[in-house]
This record gives sequence, C-alpha cells and structure tokens, in this order.
Amino acid sequence: MDDAPLSEKHARILRKYKPVCICNGIKVPRVEEAIENGARSLEEVARATGCTTGSCHGERCVPVILEMLDGKR
Ligand code: FES
Repeated sequence: MDDAPLSEKHARILRKYKPVCICNGIKVPRVEEAIENGARSLEEVARATGCTTGSCHGERCVPVILEMLDGKR
C-alpha cells in the first residue's frame, strides 16, 4: 500500500463529505459557511445549520462545532 499522504486536492474532497452533525447529515462545508456568514457561537451555528437538533441533542456535534468556532478544525 502507498504510504504517501493524500494530495491536497483529495484532502479537500474528503473534507467536503466529512460529517459534523451525524444525526442531521450536516457536513463541514455547511458549518464553515455559517461561520463565514457571521455565526460566532454554538447557538448561532445551530440556528443557521440545524446542528444540535437531532436525536443525540448535540452530544456528538457540539464538540466539533466548538472546535470549528475556535479555529482548531
Ligand atoms: S450529531 Fe448533531 S444532533 Fe446528533
């Protein structure tokens, strides 16, 4: 197997499909767009995207959203 790192292009494609809110099928680009459009808090991201409203009530997506708001993802 090739151990070479994925190219930047492949990494961008994978990021496009990476889930944030698994319950609602919301992926990274939608949350990034909300942040780019001015969402600055968890509540604002949730309102803009629908994240945190699924069956786990944000248990899985809240930590990811907070990291994205902090610029760590
Ligand atoms: S993963 Fe977002 S509400 Fe469950």
